[in-house]
Amino acid sequence: DKGNYRHFMLKEIHEQPVVVAQTLQSYLRPVEEQVALPQMDFDLSTVERVVIVACGTASYVGMVGKYWIESLARLPVEVDFASEFRYREPVLDGRILGVVISQSGETADTLAALRHMKANGVTTAGIINVPTSSMAREVDLLMPTHAGPEIGVASTKAFTCQLAVMAALAANLARARGKLTPEAERYIVHQLTEAPAAMNAALACDEAIAAVAKTISTARDVLYLGRGPEYPMALEGALKLKEISYIHAEGYASGEMKHGPIALIDENVPLIVLAPAGPLFDKTVSNMQEAQARGAQVVLISDAEGIAQAGDNCIATIEMPKVAPLIAPLVYAVPIQLLAYHVAVAKGTDVDQPRNLAKSVTVE
Ligand code: F6R
Repeated sequence: DKGNYRHFMLKEIHEQPVVVAQTLQSYLRPVEEQVALPQMDFDLSTVERVVIVACGTASYVGMVGKYWIESLARLPVEVDFASEFRYREPVLDGRILGVVISQSGETADTLAALRHMKANGVTTAGIINVPTSSMAREVDLLMPTHAGPEIGVASTKAFTCQLAVMAALAANLARARGKLTPEAERYIVHQLTEAPAAMNAALACDEAIAAVAKTISTARDVLYLGRGPEYPMALEGALKLKEISYIHAEGYASGEMKHGPIALIDENVPLIVLAPAGPLFDKTVSNMQEAQARGAQVVLISDAEGIAQAGDNCIATIEMPKVAPLIAPLVYAVPIQLLAYHVAVAKGTDVDQPRNLAKSVTVE
């Protein structure tokens, strides 16, 4: 039931504050101000390396997880597309935590990668939305997302719930390894607790996004830029746009622009820049300005501070609430989903059932 919404995707975008809060309930102990994981029969403190495997949107959660786990827990992390992982004879020596991420829990390549890891003695965990799925049954540690059924083919609420669980996993690994002071843990719990309200505030950009979507809908190519954890979010923004509007889009790490993609820039290629104010902001803005000097039409997604500093020559600025870096990916997911949505609506494509795509990819 779409309720009052025109499409399932729009409904699911709007459900995010609620389902992320629901999901976090299983991973936060607000009274003790601690993060938590479901009961497990292995010792997280013995993990020497994390290997994350997923497909599509779920793989971008893995990439964000690499930033979080490496910085918080000081553990090396590898992220791979499931379809690449299992065919390249990955080295699986040592004490590895293998993490699969999947909405459906049935994606053929991810399931095969999970079985490959298990067959090689790897302890596995899964961030999975469908609790009755094959992956949910087969992982050693199930970390459920509580997004509820996701109907729109383009993943939205499952994605942000996966990010929430990934943040909790990173913090739990950090605690198990003695890398998290009680103050740091309390801070993380507070930030995650505030994420749903911040996502709700982000939803208020809907009108501004709908207005700029008309311009974007006439483009042939669109580029997305981000740095740090916002780099995988740039990839996610580009994937969402491709999937439902059929406009060619690519996401790049901001610093990579001048190593090639900048050759694509002219006044016909809109550039979507994801840049929360913070330590990486100035660098991203200088990459953005290099593109503007070559005529790029920039949509800057930032907070009030970032927009005041760098919003002047943009065709649109989309204001996000000011948030801690840890939860920025959860919040910045909202405008990139809404942008893809409104561009697709402007183009008249089938938002919930894009051509050539299936909700669950059970062939390899
Ligand atoms: C993107 C999308 C796909 C899925 C991918 C993995 O919007 O929906 O890229 O993320 O097919 O699916 P799951 O998460 O079910 O393994």
